[in-house]
Amino acid sequence: MKTLLKWFALLLLPALAAALWLAWPDVREPALVEGAALPATAARIEQGRYLARAGNCIACHTQAGQAPYAGGRRIGTPFGDVFSTNLTPDRQTGLGAWTPGEFWRAMHHGRSRDGRLLYPAFPYTSYTRVSRKDSDAIFAYLQSLPAVAAPRQEPELRFPYNTQLALRAWRALYFRPGEQREDAQRTAQWNRGAYLVEGLGHCNACHTARNALGGIDLARNYGGGPIPTLGWEAPPLASPQPMSDAQAAEMVELLQGGTSRHGVTTGPMAEVVFHSLQYLQAADIDAMVTYIRSLPPVGDAPVPRQPRVSAARRAELMRSGEPIYRQHCADCHGQQGEGRDYVYPALVGNRMLTGASAGNAIRSVLLGGYGPSTARHPQPHGMPSFAQRLTSEEIAAVLTYARGNWGNEAPAVSPVEVQRH
Ligand code: HEC
Ligand code: HEC
Ligand code: HEC
Repeated sequence: MKTLLKWFALLLLPALAAALWLAWPDVREPALVEGAALPATAARIEQGRYLARAGNCIACHTQAGQAPYAGGRRIGTPFGDVFSTNLTPDRQTGLGAWTPGEFWRAMHHGRSRDGRLLYPAFPYTSYTRVSRKDSDAIFAYLQSLPAVAAPRQEPELRFPYNTQLALRAWRALYFRPGEQREDAQRTAQWNRGAYLVEGLGHCNACHTARNALGGIDLARNYGGGPIPTLGWEAPPLASPQPMSDAQAAEMVELLQGGTSRHGVTTGPMAEVVFHSLQYLQAADIDAMVTYIRSLPPVGDAPVPRQPRVSAARRAELMRSGEPIYRQHCADCHGQQGEGRDYVYPALVGNRMLTGASAGNAIRSVLLGGYGPSTARHPQPHGMPSFAQRLTSEEIAAVLTYARGNWGNEAPAVSPVEVQRH
């Protein structure tokens, strides 16, 4: 009996595991099509450079202080860290030996040249929508870069997330490969916007909440939510009320220049504008906003649990917040929170101060920051950090005041919540 069990363990278990592995349905994969490689003309390379910017490849694939596109940047996930790879044409460590077909398979299907399934920290859940033609142009551009030797770094993921079986299961649940289809009912501009937002822009990688397994919650697409490991929250892009023309025009300004009449992008969004959106043609930004305006509303985002603040305590915070605001904030943000056009963001009507969650506002006050430097606004003004200058009680008070004044009607902020950041 004992030996039987031993044989079972030795032979049958691995066989069962192998059978499970083979049987686990991976998403359907089309055959690798090489086709006739298009010549890498200067125009195609230029087109590829533009598209790589639209995809913001450089932000993840460059490590601070190192050669652009040589990879090695650590990307945090709730399951551990992964490292971006070398996209320069080095033959040993980069894409030098890759074919356009293999590159497309990575973009479209999340599979590396050697057959390994890739971690979705590489947002191929969005890039799968990119056309083969555009993928070929990006490849031509990457192949035109100077080759840099930079070997791949092993991911530091916890078991079982570091296994290919886990990736297969994840893909079966959350990954649907497929190019973006034209919607014949819509205008060419809308279709272009959908292609950019859903594909290269990978906007829902941040602007849609993720479930416990890191899957993008498409039922609440563009409903916003916390960005795992970054500590920032992405606001919803789908708005409950139709966006007015004036609001849409401001969004165009914000995405193109990082600073609009009333707003400034900050944190991770400032990086998206800095590396990517500021380089896009005005027509493409217009198209993206046209698409964003059409997103169906998804209802309020689930708000992380917050400490309760009683009505009496709220009134106290409001009272003590006012003089703090006058002393530390009003010079820039205005007596009525009106800000200064194209210089200091308005706090009245600001999503960070009208939303249910105060997380981003707390972060802004603690850390301070700058909007992105762009061609339109080369020297954006800064916001000082208040972490050393104000106590948690004072920050809670000033934010409660700013969230409850001038027509803003958001809940109070408790000092405990400030301390959590
Ligand atoms: C949000 C971060 C992020 C962005 C943006 C991003 N990548 Fe990546 N990429 C990664 C990570 C992380 C990996 C490694 C995944 C792994 O090891 O499984 C990767 C892997 C790849 C690979 C596979 C390389 C190999 O050796 O298997 C290719 C090809 C690639 N990226 C191309 C691109 C292109 C092209 C863009 C822009 C259109 C881009 N990436 C944008 C994070 C990113
Ligand atoms: C890396 C995460 C990330 C990605 C990717 C990202 N965003 Fe954002 N976005 C944020 C965060 C965080 C904020 C809140 C901070 C701010 O307002 O600057 C934000 C804010 C915004 C705002 C301002 C919303 C408001 O009402 O204040 C707009 C508009 C926006 N993003 C559009 C986009 C579009 C379009 C894309 C795709 C091209 C995109 N974002 C991709 C993280 C991201
Ligand atoms: C010296 C001018 C200055 C002072 C003083 C200042 N801010 Fe700011 N603030 C800015 C600028 C510029 C930005 C945009 C840059 C950024 O968000 O990183 C900003 C951004 C913000 C934001 C994020 C809003 C957004 O849309 O990006 C909040 C919230 C905020 N400030 C609140 C405050 C509060 C509260 C105080 C006082 C405790 C204060 N600020 C003091 C200049 C200032």
